[in-house]
Amino acid sequence: MTDPLVESARAVQQRAYAPYSRFRVGCALEADDGRVFVGCNVENASYGLTICAERAAVCAAIAGGARRLRRAVVATDIDPPAAPCGACRQVLSEFGPDLKVDGVGPSSSVSWTMGELLPAAFGPEQLT
Ligand code: THU
Repeated sequence: MTDPLVESARAVQQRAYAPYSRFRVGCALEADDGRVFVGCNVENASYGLTICAERAAVCAAIAGGARRLRRAVVATDIDPPAAPCGACRQVLSEFGPDLKVDGVGPSSSVSWTMGELLPAAFGPEQLT
């Protein structure tokens, strides 16, 4: 069965700019209004400036006017699939504390809740 969010993540993964690591990542986010936003990793000759796919997708969502995310799919070419890095978990959590995150690889997938990926998260509620 095809999952449109997985298809979106796979499609944008093909656009990744990863000439240094050769590790392509695509991320598709579904906002609470059903809209989908995508991002891929964008590397740089100055390696530390690399932007992860998940944070690129969050920036696209916020620029598009979304504020609440309900689902994320992260596509990589490894099995078991990669989960978002720590920095991306924190940024995803800001807009999706109850986010469902699916990692998809060539022949397997894994599902996590944001609570599993980032237990005891620091969030906006701590600042009010
Ligand atoms: N990468 C992501 O895009 N997302 C992650 O959550 C982990 C790592 C990218 C960064 C870099 O371009 C490549 O994967 C290898 O680290």
